[in-house]
Amino acid sequence: MPRPVSATVSVSALAHNLAAVRRHLDQTAAAASGLPPSIWAVIKANAYGHGIEQAVAGFSKAQGLAMLDLDEAVRCREAGWGGPILLLEGFFNPSDLDLVDRYHLSITVHQREQLDMLARARLSRRVDIMLKLNSGMNRLGFSPAAYPAAHERAQLLQQQGTVGSIGKMTHFACADGPQGVSEQMAVFNSVTHKLPGPVSVCNSAATLRFAEIAVASENQAHWVRPGICLYGASPFADADAASFGLKPAMSLRSEIIAVQELKAGDSVGYGALFRADRPMRVGIVACGYADGYPRHAATGTPVAVAGIRTRLVGRVSMDMLIVDLDPIPAAGVGTPVSLWGEDGPSVDEVALAAGTIGYELLCALAPRVPVTRDA
Ligand SMILES: Cc1ncc(COP(=O)(O)O)c(C=O)c1O
Repeated sequence: MPRPVSATVSVSALAHNLAAVRRHLDQTAAAASGLPPSIWAVIKANAYGHGIEQAVAGFSKAQGLAMLDLDEAVRCREAGWGGPILLLEGFFNPSDLDLVDRYHLSITVHQREQLDMLARARLSRRVDIMLKLNSGMNRLGFSPAAYPAAHERAQLLQQQGTVGSIGKMTHFACADGPQGVSEQMAVFNSVTHKLPGPVSVCNSAATLRFAEIAVASENQAHWVRPGICLYGASPFADADAASFGLKPAMSLRSEIIAVQELKAGDSVGYGALFRADRPMRVGIVACGYADGYPRHAATGTPVAVAGIRTRLVGRVSMDMLIVDLDPIPAAGVGTPVSLWGEDGPSVDEVALAAGTIGYELLCALAPRVPVTRDA
């Protein structure tokens, strides 16, 4: 018998979330008399831990898929995805361009060295590029001063037959907080609005809170790039995913494998971090940090046992964690436990209790956890 821990990925929840974002964009566009942008569903990092093949199935109605790794792009093609694929960091060395060419991938171009490599490349067909502006995040992208010359070079490559369409792209640093996107959007507009080509802005936070800039700005977005919201988690600290009509796509579940009866004063787990102040029952659950559950989740982190909310107690260990069985007196060995997802707390609640974000927990699901795909 395998350990009882497992994750379920719901393809229908992925499709539901994509449809919810689509509806939101369509409604925003209709209200602003603008055009609804297309969606690049962001599926980097193994589709935020959900699996590339599951993402290809769940996001079959997306207009495009965006990711980082060439091997994930190839897996999308092998899983039957024939639509556009955007590599969000572009390519890293000239030999990558062979696969870009063979699998008909679009690439982000964010630095001079990539233009140099493209100039030397011999491709069988034109490659569509998104030329990235660093509008203030200072991670990837040409500076506002360097962007016009980079665009000219890209146009030259277009005239020479190497480059197909040249899009304009930027990434927001603060769409999830009070600072918002207006400063970066102003930089983006001022640098790019006279240049031709499709525009791509907006991660999940900007898509959910600032979609009007994507549909009605002087530089109307043709593509948005939501990631986390499509998996049913929230990009915001102050709003949960359910408030946007999103459903969790990953559910992490296990079972109680042992029960301990504690007397007042007894402790449990490494470091004796939790001490019972009265007689109580605790359940030992087959799930630990080697499964991807966060070690920093503190006593009080929500967990559901037989569908009833209770709390984690003590320190999470490599293969096990401990839960308070007070609210579930009938629970015993074999009782189902939901760590996060459909029938448990949200991944964002667990992340908050562990001092991190849902993104990290979803991406960190350990390879040893078997994943089942739900229709
Ligand atoms: C360039 C780019 N676009 C879009 C996204 C999607 O972001 P999110 O998952 O917050 O929607 C990311 C993720 O980091 C990204 O790097």
